[in-house]
Amino acid sequence: MSTTFQLDTATSRANPTPAPMKRLTIPAIRRRKRDGVTAEPIVMLTAYTARQAQLLDAHCDLLLVGDSLGQVIYGLPSSVPVTLDLMIAHGAAVVRGSYHAAVIVDMPFGAYEQSPQQAFASAARVLKETGCAGVKLEGGAAMAETVRFLTERGIPVMGHVGLTPQAVNILGGYNARGRSDAEADKIVADTQALDQAGAFAVVIEGVVEPIAIAATKAVSCPTIGIGASARCDGQVLVTEDMLGMFERVPRFVKRYADVASVVTEAAAQYAAEVRDRSFPGTEQTYQPK
Ligand code: KIV
Repeated sequence: MSTTFQLDTATSRANPTPAPMKRLTIPAIRRRKRDGVTAEPIVMLTAYTARQAQLLDAHCDLLLVGDSLGQVIYGLPSSVPVTLDLMIAHGAAVVRGSYHAAVIVDMPFGAYEQSPQQAFASAARVLKETGCAGVKLEGGAAMAETVRFLTERGIPVMGHVGLTPQAVNILGGYNARGRSDAEADKIVADTQALDQAGAFAVVIEGVVEPIAIAATKAVSCPTIGIGASARCDGQVLVTEDMLGMFERVPRFVKRYADVASVVTEAAAQYAAEVRDRSFPGTEQTYQPK
């Protein structure tokens, strides 16, 4: 699938020319897994801005406005300080920048855990103010009642089990989960509880491979792996990680580009040309007629 762009004179930026197709729906994503088999794995990447969404959209089934934007965009120490207003602002930008992928917005820490009612009020704001297709929330069996409450009221929910970064203060770090029998059993049971509560998909993050495979086999909804297994029903990565924007990335990240070097080299060349007055040149300056 290719994307073409045209200049939008209102914003003076290039916008994608919509291909003649409808945006993917949550039921269509859910149906990818039939009788325990996902013939075509689900492709998800994070997106935080309209321009990023424009570039990723044609290649993805799902765009996730992850609360990882706290660290990636805002330089915060974890996702814990991220607010609902921040998620809504970035969610709306990503919806504006996409026309093919279904957009999922993360519910930030503190916006949903208190009660199903609190979760509904937050998620309804997210859907109304961004136009996204659904929300993601962290937690397993403990969140099952909330997942059921939301889905029965028209809000598609993606679950998130295993390494749940919002719980970093309880987990004590970002190490892989599922190494002990008790932890492994809990991850499988959490995934099943979310599936039975109506989650349309479940992210399995930072989980040892056999447990990610067992959890995937144990549920009827698709699982989306990150630091899990190629045998999950789909995969997600933080886009900046896979683009090589950071020097240090978790072991499970594959870098598909070295964008940090491209940016550094371009900035260095620009700085040199400003300092030796070779920029702007004649092509970049306006002369009287
Ligand atoms: O916030 C995020 O980016 C996520 C993904 C890593 C799954 O939750």
